[in-house]
Amino acid sequence: MTRRKAKIIGTGSYLPEKVLTNQDLEKIVDTSDEWIVTRTGMKERRIAKDDEFTSHMGAKAALEALANANMTPDQIDFILVATLTPDYAFPSTACLIQSSIGAKKAAGADVQAACTGFLYLLSMAKSFVESGLYKNVLIIAAEKLSAITNYKDRSTCILFGDGAAACVISSEGKGLVVENIQLGADGDQADLIIMPAGGSRKPATLESVASCEHYIKMAGNEVFKHAVRRMEAACKDCLEGAGLTEKEISWLIPHQANMRIIDAIAKRFEHLPQERIFKTVQKYGNTSASSVGIALDELLRRGPLQPGEKILLTAFGAGLTWGAGILGAE
Ligand code: COA
Repeated sequence: MTRRKAKIIGTGSYLPEKVLTNQDLEKIVDTSDEWIVTRTGMKERRIAKDDEFTSHMGAKAALEALANANMTPDQIDFILVATLTPDYAFPSTACLIQSSIGAKKAAGADVQAACTGFLYLLSMAKSFVESGLYKNVLIIAAEKLSAITNYKDRSTCILFGDGAAACVISSEGKGLVVENIQLGADGDQADLIIMPAGGSRKPATLESVASCEHYIKMAGNEVFKHAVRRMEAACKDCLEGAGLTEKEISWLIPHQANMRIIDAIAKRFEHLPQERIFKTVQKYGNTSASSVGIALDELLRRGPLQPGEKILLTAFGAGLTWGAGILGAE
């Protein structure tokens, strides 16, 4: 019997309309377009409306992915959502999306792996589908990072944007085979990127709000070094695990955290030309879990890949968490 393959048979993404430019940020904090572009490569990012939430953005991306896969919501067996900005601590954002898109037969749950969320979901969906436990899995990464960004902190507020991405994973139909996924985590470094309050360890109080503990806190320099090292190692492990070399990769889609991080990773791949490294960071900033999925959707909408072409994905985030994955066009 041939082994069941997990394939991405439809993709979708959603970016809010409102654009926050570097010039807009110059009016809010002590920064400059020149500093932001030099240190991050970012020019603008998207910001959700006050009444537009993570579940709304996730649902829009999900409906687009379903349409792209020629499927209806009632064909979905399981909805997995990656987010660090859920609408509520509970119920899950997966359940809210299940209701809003009418995926009546689907179970649903949220996964929290920060910026590596999309790769964690791909790995879970791959095993659900390959094992035969579920036939059609909808994975959604959605973030409203503007809700937890401190627009008085110039070292973080320039970095983050809102947006969502989704994929339908199935064993049937033509698509991109999820060939290999390699994941990692290091909870010893949990303090490097953290939202200190709002969980059970430090519930909201007047003091926690006054001391801005409900926002992203990050040791930027430290995170930068870990990000480059971990993503490079994850990519190399993943290639080795799949029995591939970098020469066989058509596209690298790295987490869109910072152009300098992307460039530092690119330098470690001598056979991957610059134009094969897909970048959206200049226009959307860092959208955490959504970033790799948004870039993947944008790449695929440019035109179909040729059979045999491979895409290498990699991500890194709070936790710490990291991972890499290989997709192969049929
Ligand atoms: N505008 C102007 N100056 C700024 C600034 C801003 N937006 N943010 C920080 N600075 C200042 C600092 O205060 C510091 O000033 P000082 O030398 O007088 O103390 C100086 O710029 C250098 O700060 P530093 O933090 O060393 O800059 P950096 O080159 O490391 O860049 C980040 C900062 C955040 C852009 C960079 O560390 C980064 O991208 N880190 C990874 C973040 C990330 O991707 N996180 C998510 C991973 S999933």
